[in-house]
Amino acid sequence: MRDGFKLVVCDDADSASEVVSNEIGLLIREKPEAVLGLATGGTPVATYEKLAESHRLGECDFSKTVTFNLDEYLGLAPTHSQSFRFFMERQLFDHINVAPANTHVPNGLTDDVAAECQRYENLIRDHGGIEMQLLGLGHNGHIAFNEPGSPKESRTRQVDLTGETIENNARFFDSIGDVPRHALTMGIGTILESKRIILLATGDGKRDAVQKMVRGPMTSDHPASFLQTHPDVMIVLDREAAGDLK
Ligand code: F6R
Repeated sequence: MRDGFKLVVCDDADSASEVVSNEIGLLIREKPEAVLGLATGGTPVATYEKLAESHRLGECDFSKTVTFNLDEYLGLAPTHSQSFRFFMERQLFDHINVAPANTHVPNGLTDDVAAECQRYENLIRDHGGIEMQLLGLGHNGHIAFNEPGSPKESRTRQVDLTGETIENNARFFDSIGDVPRHALTMGIGTILESKRIILLATGDGKRDAVQKMVRGPMTSDHPASFLQTHPDVMIVLDREAAGDLK
């Protein structure tokens, strides 16, 4: 395993989420205007609940915080119940005092994909880059929607989702036919420019992907393996996802 990874193995998913929410909370208390990179999916839900709770308790003021989400389905309106914008509002933004204008998610309804991707890259750059990027991990090693085959230098762009990802995400839709086939996603190069990265993975279904990420060769076949090149990555796991990793 590469020396620079900081690995935290927790007893269960709830304590792993606690570690991640504490890291984010600490950053916001130290630097209220921090630029946070955020993820959707099942994994970060408990982390967002804990952040909302710490806001309720008066421990976290997000009024100056800026957020950038990793990705969005192409073709879904922000008001669509399965859009990532909608997810973020329900899971986090509605429960904290972040200014709506400071929350950024790629526009899935754009009619000019190239311009939208460039706008997103420029916006991140104009905010001084992402201070801390939260990531989940796909079973196939994807990070954001950078599926196997994604180059290390990739930037925000349109991607095709793999059959496996479509199947995994079908649980959130009425039927598999409703799952969008395309998305806009930050690239691996975009993600690697974040100053700090914190990746949360829980459950035994992620064990193999975790092993390849930390021990495998760096390869586009397993995009998360490119995190091995980043100087400041914290990987937070529960025992099930960690397997024999300590
Ligand atoms: C979502 C994202 C994806 C997920 C990954 C894991 O914004 O970037 O890469 O992090 O698909 O999803 P869950 O957490 O549902 O297992």
